[in-house]
Amino acid sequence: MDDLTPLRQQWLDRINGATDPAAIEEVRLAALGKKGEISLKMRELGRMTPEERQTIGRALNELRDELDAALRARKLSLEDAALEARLAGEWLDVTLPGRPRPQGTIHPISQVTEEVTAIFADMGFAVAEGPQVESDWYNFDALNIAPEHPARQEHDTFFMHRAPGDNRPPHVLRTHTSPVQIRAMQDQGAPIRVICPGRVYRMDMDQTHTPMFHQVEGLAIDRDISMAQLKWTLEEFCRAFFEVGQVELRFRASHFPFTEPSAEVDIRCDWSGGQLKIGEGDSWLEILGSGMVHPKVLRAGGIDPDQWQGFAFGMGIDRIAMLKYGIPDLRAFFESDLRWLRHYGFAAGDVPSVAGGLSR
Ligand code: PHE
Repeated sequence: MDDLTPLRQQWLDRINGATDPAAIEEVRLAALGKKGEISLKMRELGRMTPEERQTIGRALNELRDELDAALRARKLSLEDAALEARLAGEWLDVTLPGRPRPQGTIHPISQVTEEVTAIFADMGFAVAEGPQVESDWYNFDALNIAPEHPARQEHDTFFMHRAPGDNRPPHVLRTHTSPVQIRAMQDQGAPIRVICPGRVYRMDMDQTHTPMFHQVEGLAIDRDISMAQLKWTLEEFCRAFFEVGQVELRFRASHFPFTEPSAEVDIRCDWSGGQLKIGEGDSWLEILGSGMVHPKVLRAGGIDPDQWQGFAFGMGIDRIAMLKYGIPDLRAFFESDLRWLRHYGFAAGDVPSVAGGLSR
């Protein structure tokens, strides 16, 4: 019991071998705790002679103090190491440049479709959809366009191929979004309030026409919907969409087989200085076709025209996108030119809403 050197070495080794705070605490209890080895040895001092007590007592006291200091030092260094590791893991270089702008942009057509949807959603219109490859019944007959009707030629329709000998009428690429009116009425009945945005196809190509373009159809059917409500709805839409306080619309009597009466709608605008301004000036620009839904069309949609009536309109999405964002050539919309997309595209986070602002 007089040589404490091996004991000392053994405990110092255990202290240095501990690798976390819990292990340190375990070693501390085993050495210096109430029932720890060193404490028990100190208790044995009572059974010794005064001389022994003096030498061994002092040695034990020194050993206890040394081990206690070693335990504290080891604990501190472990805590330091843990902090270092955490700092290294959570390290942040505040001098790095900001995040680069995402590479992709939202196409103006997608953006404008979202804007239109947000505005009409605010007025209680839901979104309805239909197929782009459509039967000629939905695209024409149900809309009161008889087989011999000149509108079939005017639409420059793309017809789908049929196997030789198959004499059923061919499917078509829909020439307008109006067939979705019929599908929506069949699906939902009356009353109904929907818009139908989507792709349409006509054989046509110049600066303001492409063989594929986009329309949004509107349909509102109820007991007593009138032309006045059509006018209010469209004015309200244009004010919100073009983000100007005042817009002026001109309703021109027109003809569509599926509406009676029918009106084409022009918006007042100004071209002076080569820049287009909506809401002022001496020019008019046609933006949509509209009218009161023809009784035959209601019937084709399964709705009783003696009980229900309403309005419909069809608007060119590409056209209003060009007007709002000053895009001069329609064909560029579909050329996938990255420079064009970066210039006219929208940031992915810019979700349009009526309350939060449509475009920023
Ligand atoms: N379908 C018509 C077109 O493509 C637009 C329209 C829709 C007109 C609804 C009146 C009512 O030109």
